[in-house]
Amino acid sequence: MSDFTRVAKTSDIPDPGRKLVEIDERLVVVFHAAGHFYCIDDVCTHDGGPLGEGELDGFAVACPRHGAKFDIRDGRALTMPATKPTMAHEVKLVGDDVLVKLTAE
Ligand code: FES
Repeated sequence: MSDFTRVAKTSDIPDPGRKLVEIDERLVVVFHAAGHFYCIDDVCTHDGGPLGEGELDGFAVACPRHGAKFDIRDGRALTMPATKPTMAHEVKLVGDDVLVKLTAE
């Protein structure tokens, strides 16, 4: 079980905005939206599209490949063609630091 990893300063990521980070060889995307930070895998469950490159609308990010939308708050698949959630990870703020703890598989 991994611990929290510092991935950014809060001021590094505009609201709305995102940052692609690698933790333990896993690519994840940290989103800043509506004053909060969220983290999900950079992987669409339809066919592996890079969610970090998708358009963000509120709390929904659209996969740039075929348009499936995911909720950045919990990784839920919101629209076809994705049917399975992508993994969401725990985020906490310590002072000005954004920390992420990977969810165990
Ligand atoms: S790879 Fe994401 S919608 Fe197809």
